[in-house]
Amino acid sequence: MILELILGILFIIISISLLLFIPLIIGAPFEPSKDDRIKSILKLASPKKKDRIVDLGSGDGRIVIVFAEKGYESHGYEINPWLVLYSIIKAKIKGAKKAHFHLGNFWNKDLSKYNIITLFQIGYIMPKLEEKIKKECKSKTKIVSNKWTFPNIKPKKINNNVKLYIIKN
Ligand SMILES: C[S@@+](CC[C@H](N)C(=O)[O-])C[C@H]1O[C@@H](n2cnc3c(N)ncnc32)[C@H](O)[C@@H]1O
Repeated sequence: MILELILGILFIIISISLLLFIPLIIGAPFEPSKDDRIKSILKLASPKKKDRIVDLGSGDGRIVIVFAEKGYESHGYEINPWLVLYSIIKAKIKGAKKAHFHLGNFWNKDLSKYNIITLFQIGYIMPKLEEKIKKECKSKTKIVSNKWTFPNIKPKKINNNVKLYIIKN
């Protein structure tokens, strides 16, 4: 009985640690974009109806849901299953039918089908992410990054510390 209890507690501690630390190794830990940044993200992305939007590391789903509520098909990749579940429930409650959430590591996803990519990641992954985006994304793809910059591409516009990049391939 005591052994089972100890094993149960250990399992919970290990699961929580993995959820907290895995994103730290392969991307940013969860920190939601603030409302004023979301306004800048929307402004810089300036989507058209047929655009396909993805948020890399969608957190609690707020970016994906905002786009969906405005009528745009939008997707989010998120590595933390609890945040994916939370996002799905939130989108359902808000009636945001065009919001789609996918559990998974964005490093393993093909980004070529998206022409607007939003992200709020972390400095040390930006060089590798720049390479992935340049390799996979079509010309004129818009990348909207909250806070962080790519090392070798110049932002086309900056608004409230949100950067807009346009890919030229
Ligand atoms: C700073 S938060 C941003 C959340 C949301 N995009 C926003 O702007 O409010 C970064 C999110 O990326 C997720 N993440 C980090 N690395 C990831 C990866 N390789 N694949 C998928 N999600 C990842 C984290 O779990 C976290 O929820």
